[in-house]
Amino acid sequence: MWISFHSYKGGTGKTNISGNLACYLTKNGHKVGLVETDVSGPGINALFSLNIKRTLVDFLQGKAGLEEIVYRHEKSELYIIPSDATEEDIVGFSKDPSQAKEKLQSLIKDFQSRYGLDHVIFDCSPGLNRSSLLVMGMSEMSIVVSTLDKQDIRGTYVISGVARRLRSNPRILFNKLPKDKYEATKETLEDLSRKIGLEPIGVIFFDESMANAWSRKIIVEEYPKSQYGKQIAGLWERITQSAGSL
Ligand SMILES: Nc1ncnc2c1ncn2[C@@H]1O[C@H](COP(=O)(O)OP(=O)(O)OP(=O)(O)O)[C@@H](O)[C@H]1O
Ligand SMILES: [Mg+2]
Repeated sequence: MWISFHSYKGGTGKTNISGNLACYLTKNGHKVGLVETDVSGPGINALFSLNIKRTLVDFLQGKAGLEEIVYRHEKSELYIIPSDATEEDIVGFSKDPSQAKEKLQSLIKDFQSRYGLDHVIFDCSPGLNRSSLLVMGMSEMSIVVSTLDKQDIRGTYVISGVARRLRSNPRILFNKLPKDKYEATKETLEDLSRKIGLEPIGVIFFDESMANAWSRKIIVEEYPKSQYGKQIAGLWERITQSAGSL
């Protein structure tokens, strides 16, 4: 399955969720590809401490082939395509924007078949920009990550309309929720998901170990039994249940 993570505002937790989910799946016997498509503010290379030479950007500019831009995570079955920071977005690398989708799609198909990947996870840039929409349109499931911040909610509402039009099976995931307020906010969250028009795919609580890690640790590897680790496992369970109903 191709799954993409999006958000309206930055910093909602996409990079940490996609990175941890990718590691969780690998630890559980899946072969996984993780693709950083946020070329204006990449985070995956920092989270995985990658020593990068060539990236997705080089590929899109015709300066590198597939194998040169794929990084294996510590001899596991997790294969990462990172990005470099640039001013342009993915679409900007193509003279004809309509070719950008084809180019990226064929790269990911190649990536999947050459490395025998079961799943490909995309970490996208925040906001409603061309590259994020392009990836949304390619994914079998897109997950919009939101906090309860009013600014986030408003933007998430806008994204939801676009995601539905792109038929990318959009879902909403609330992150950084205060655990002690969950029961009290449960109904509000359901109501909110309905109003926004996105099927809820669960919540992830605010987690001290995650907050204190400052994207320097992959929580499912360092603390697999932590609350965050368990929630990533729960997220995958709900993704598969939800995908079954597609
Ligand atoms: N559930 C959580 N509990 C506590 N802190 C969290 C949680 N999820 C993410 N964070 C923290 O929020 C910060 C932003 O996370 P992250 O970089 O994953 O967000 P992002 O959506 O990828 O940001 P950007 O839009 O800038 O790419 C990080 O410092 C991370 O540790
Ligand atoms: Mg990020």
